[in-house]
Amino acid sequence: MDQAELITAALEASRRAYAPYSKFRVGAALLGNSGKVYSGCNVENASYGLSNCAERTAVFSAVSEGEVTFEMIAIVAEGGAAPCGACRQVLYEFAPEIMVLVADTEESLRSTSSLKDLLPQAFGSEVKKR
Ligand code: THU
Repeated sequence: MDQAELITAALEASRRAYAPYSKFRVGAALLGNSGKVYSGCNVENASYGLSNCAERTAVFSAVSEGEVTFEMIAIVAEGGAAPCGACRQVLYEFAPEIMVLVADTEESLRSTSSLKDLLPQAFGSEVKKR
């Protein structure tokens, strides 16, 4: 599974977005260390605050399937969209140094970053063990 394939999987996931309120479709594809890909889309709700982002949908899907270690995540939205703060924190729990690919709906890569740069001085389980 290379970067381009992961971006294609994220684009496909974005087509399944349930986004009748924002109309902003987001797809994520999360590559587990096993090689398996878990996809997710944003799932909105009439009670707006209950909406779930694509990235967290993918993480929760993977964890509920039994995979907890990840290498890379691709996120696709129109114009490209970096992961929100909540999603950065949820990714940090499992993969503090995951590679984050942001691409647009033309599948053009807009940015490649390590989560450690996107979420500096993060709060994680290691803090509680001090
Ligand atoms: N959204 C995501 O799916 N991922 C992000 O990282 C940012 C925002 C979704 C949430 C909502 O359904 C829509 O985009 C507009 O905010």
